[in-house]
Amino acid sequence: MTRVRIEDIGRHTGESIEIAGWLYNLRKSGKIAFPQVRDGSGLIQCVAVKAQLPEEKFEALKHLTQESSLIVRGKVRAEERAPGGYEMDVEDFDIVQRVAEEHPYPITPKDHGIDFLMDHRHLWIRSRRQHAVLRIRAEVIKAVRDFFDSNGFLLVDCPIFTPAACEGTTTLFEVDYFEDEKVYLTQSGQLYNEANAMAFGKVYCFGPTFRAEKSKTRRHLTEFWMVEPEMAYATLEDVKRVGEALVCFVVDRVLQNKRPELAVLERDLAKLEAIKPPFPRITYDAAVELLKKKGSEIEWGSDFGGTDETLISEEFDRPVIVEKYPQQIKAFYFESDPARPELALGADFLAPEGYGEIIGGGQRVHSLELLEKRLAEHNLPREAFEWYLDLRRFGAVPHAGFGMGIERVVTWICGIDHLRETIAFPRMLYRTKP
Ligand code: 4AD
Ligand code: MG
Repeated sequence: MTRVRIEDIGRHTGESIEIAGWLYNLRKSGKIAFPQVRDGSGLIQCVAVKAQLPEEKFEALKHLTQESSLIVRGKVRAEERAPGGYEMDVEDFDIVQRVAEEHPYPITPKDHGIDFLMDHRHLWIRSRRQHAVLRIRAEVIKAVRDFFDSNGFLLVDCPIFTPAACEGTTTLFEVDYFEDEKVYLTQSGQLYNEANAMAFGKVYCFGPTFRAEKSKTRRHLTEFWMVEPEMAYATLEDVKRVGEALVCFVVDRVLQNKRPELAVLERDLAKLEAIKPPFPRITYDAAVELLKKKGSEIEWGSDFGGTDETLISEEFDRPVIVEKYPQQIKAFYFESDPARPELALGADFLAPEGYGEIIGGGQRVHSLELLEKRLAEHNLPREAFEWYLDLRRFGAVPHAGFGMGIERVVTWICGIDHLRETIAFPRMLYRTKP
């Protein structure tokens, strides 16, 4: 008998086939049972009639426990009223493992608190809502790769063990390497990406990055995935142009391919359909003025907090690009604005609906003298950056790039409260288990 994935079951109406999965739910009334079976690709309601099964089999099915694994054989039938549009009339089945009654599956349809669900994350990912979020994540990642692969960027991945900081020394995770050597978990692939860009012109890396940030917010993970493009012969303008095109491409893909998942999450589609170019662009100066008008106590020269970002993004129905921040609040590698050297040629994209920064990037310092000065000002160990300085000795050109945080983007697209649900096993300030 042919084994079929539930997502493909529509192509087998009228046929007897086999599905292999887990018992999601069970309704019963005397002579008939309705086991709902999930197989990872979808959910289908089965119909088991007492008269058509051996007595002991029907009884076993009627008393089967949630999340027991089973293989069901039966005939597929179109059924308009059924959730997926099909039902299966059970002809036979085998139970693979029966969940014990005295130790039942811990997640039931009742409301569990978030801590309980997070402690059972290894089981929680079987539920419908988590499926929707994680499928959207996979679509976002595929879209990101397709976007760069089809626009002339070469995928060149960067190391995770690194000898130096990229984004400031306060958020570095230190690791004991061999023979008393210390290394750090990467905060960003950017510095290596710059070398790759000088070798290949346009590159991107995509992988996990780490921040030892003591922030317990709905926007911070200690381990998150970032995609980072880097371009030679490029400026801040290119960052804004490519970032805008990327975000539009990704949102569009999810709208095209993940409608059922967005429906499970009850996402307001009009909000996503509004994500079209051009994105509004404002300077840091203008953003500070805007915030003051809205009652914030921010002063020029300080960084935006989460609340400030929300206040700014409230003004727009699509991501807003905020550019030219004061150098003092940015990393050492930002090129200065020639017109106002106190400003960094950097840009952040703030998502609408209060989802905060999804992209950060800009133009890099390409003069050797200025970069040497910056390393000294930031107290960065010169030896660890010698190779990076080489990029300014051998064919230095203006270059630029950015990083987009996958979990931030998925949280926003899904319209959910907290980014902990956008990765299968989140790592946060107070959570490293399961
Ligand atoms: O703004 P960030 O720190 O920029 C960089 O790391 C640059 N070196 C990237 C580059 O230019 N190649 O981080 C980039 C993005 C943020 O906009 C945000 O989306 C995400 O990474 N991000 C986080 N996501 C989850 N948890 C955290 N703790 C994050 N920190 C940054
Ligand atoms: Mg940033």
